[in-house]
Amino acid sequence: MTIALCPGSFDPPTNGHVDVIQRSLAIFDEVVVGVIGNPSKSPMFSAEERVDLLRKVFTGVDRVGVETFDGLLVDFAVGRGIDVIVKGLRGVADFDSELQMAQMNHHLSGIETCFVATNPSHGYISSSLVKEVARLGGNTDRLVPAEVQQALNAKVPR
Ligand code: PNS
Repeated sequence: MTIALCPGSFDPPTNGHVDVIQRSLAIFDEVVVGVIGNPSKSPMFSAEERVDLLRKVFTGVDRVGVETFDGLLVDFAVGRGIDVIVKGLRGVADFDSELQMAQMNHHLSGIETCFVATNPSHGYISSSLVKEVARLGGNTDRLVPAEVQQALNAKVPR
């Protein structure tokens, strides 16, 4: 039984995140989605809202659990019995920082990180850009799951 951890800010969850989680499910037995409680930038959605959105998106998928964490990712991972951390790579711009985090997390805990290549159709999607587009009145409904689109509409009335 192999448990994967897909960590992130998920502010908000995007179709890119959903793709990485679904593809992790195809490889590993169980996936824990780890939502950081206090991301470095002040979030649009509270930790409870981000957890709630991800739980709605994965309703009925019993091999996915969504939990919040604070502090070191590896402390959460060790406490939760995680075997592997999974991250998506959109391109070379992601690579340097992701490699550094993977190496640091391995140094601290021995836990390996696996990278999945983001589906090219999601390669340009980021939570930051989704929020910017939404705030400026653009259409985000093909960038995020329907549940997230509803929540964005409520946060940013258009
Ligand atoms: O979605 P994001 O913002 O790219 O996610 C980044 C996240 C939450 C995975 C990363 O910031 C993280 O792991 N934070 C926890 C603090 C920690 O363990 N820092 C050392 C990482 S090497």
